[in-house]
Amino acid sequence: MIEAYHERFHEHSELFLRQLPKGVFITTRAKDGTTNTMTVAWGHIGVIWGRPVFIAYVRYSRFTYDVLLNAEDYTINVPAEGTMQEALKIAGTKSGRDIDKFKEANLTLKPGRKVKSPIIAECALQYECKMIYQQSQEPALIDEKIKERYYPNHDTHIMFYGEIVDSYRMKGA
Ligand SMILES: Cc1cc2nc3c(=O)[nH]c(=O)nc-3n(C[C@H](O)[C@H](O)[C@H](O)COP(=O)(O)O)c2cc1C
Repeated sequence: MIEAYHERFHEHSELFLRQLPKGVFITTRAKDGTTNTMTVAWGHIGVIWGRPVFIAYVRYSRFTYDVLLNAEDYTINVPAEGTMQEALKIAGTKSGRDIDKFKEANLTLKPGRKVKSPIIAECALQYECKMIYQQSQEPALIDEKIKERYYPNHDTHIMFYGEIVDSYRMKGA
């Protein structure tokens, strides 16, 4: 077992998995302080290299992709099931290149416990993730029908692997 393995990463996974298809936030802060969030509905919680990880799928075209490239970590902020729909819509349709989404969606940032990226206080469940790997998709290996549907413009996804170093419920959220 590696040092500081966060063993309780699975504790709230049902809440996470029920909300994921409706959207959760990925929030990240680059080394220069640039901070952004966006809605994601694709991702995994699992284990690799003997450590718990979150894997987020982010298209090259997202501003969040640029920020993640210059960040050491990110947080996954999970609304209580079915809540925060307006904020998820704003974070999932507008770009941090154009607006301050935290302001626009009335989201409160709070410091993370173990990472530099902040958390969104209104969310019920938080995952704090330290970047350990990035992987681009191999278009030649994607099923043709999926490729036609999801990648007509070749805007494929990068998988950002973050070791889950902490996870916790928020009181009252
Ligand atoms: C419900 C929902 C789920 C989404 N899931 C993803 C996702 O998993 N990966 C992704 O790259 N974009 C996803 N998006 C789209 C981005 O959130 C959206 O393009 C966003 O405006 C990008 O913001 P940014 O330019 O500030 O990074 C999703 C949008 C919605 C509404």
